[in-house]
Amino acid sequence: MSQLHVIDHPMVQHKLTIMRMKETGSKDFRELLKEIAMLMGYEVTRDIALMDVKIETPICPMTAKMVNGRKLAIVPILRAGMGMVDGLLSLLPVAKVGHIGLYRDEETHKPVVYFCKLPKDIENRMVILTDPMLATGGSACDGIAMLKERGCKNIRLMCLVAAPDGVAKVQQEHPDVDIYVAAVDERLNENAYIVPGLGDAGDRIFGTK
Ligand code: PRP
Ligand code: URA
Repeated sequence: MSQLHVIDHPMVQHKLTIMRMKETGSKDFRELLKEIAMLMGYEVTRDIALMDVKIETPICPMTAKMVNGRKLAIVPILRAGMGMVDGLLSLLPVAKVGHIGLYRDEETHKPVVYFCKLPKDIENRMVILTDPMLATGGSACDGIAMLKERGCKNIRLMCLVAAPDGVAKVQQEHPDVDIYVAAVDERLNENAYIVPGLGDAGDRIFGTK
């Protein structure tokens, strides 16, 4: 069974509360999402492999540890997942970035694929799949399946707000994928929106609708 990590750090919770407020505009929403993504990135990367490097301090030579960022990829689910990329890149500047385009059909709430462009050595990288909203879990499950079809074996899902249904679906379909969220909310409403949630993340990031 995949693990669910709820990042309950006070700074993450504080920023998420401001994002939830309906009066928070796109500029602040984007900045807060970027900041939270960087903070959550600490937890998502907590156990990534380090390599030994030989360096010299002003005092003496030593063997020290460094992250091998060339083994990482960040893959946002378009559009809203894009809002988490810059925050992660400020932590992992040499990670490659792929894109998966999915939108939820407004009637069926099922995901529809319209784009996929990934680094060509994606199968050798640990992938952080980003999407702020994990509602029914359909988009995340399809995104993970697309990565697995291309050979990815080490995938982590990083979201902001989840519904219990979405968490359960990912855990059932992809028990090897750990999930990182800042909050698990109460439920979905009749339009498959997360309650209380924060509304439509893509629209709030990009000022559409
Ligand atoms: C939103 C969100 C997720 C998806 C979550 O995207 O960013 O991708 O819905 O819902 P699910 O768990 O029920 O699949 P949306 O389809 O609104 O597209 P957008 O990001 O382009 O606005
Ligand atoms: N997509 C969103 O952007 N918000 C939700 O609450 C559910 C799906």
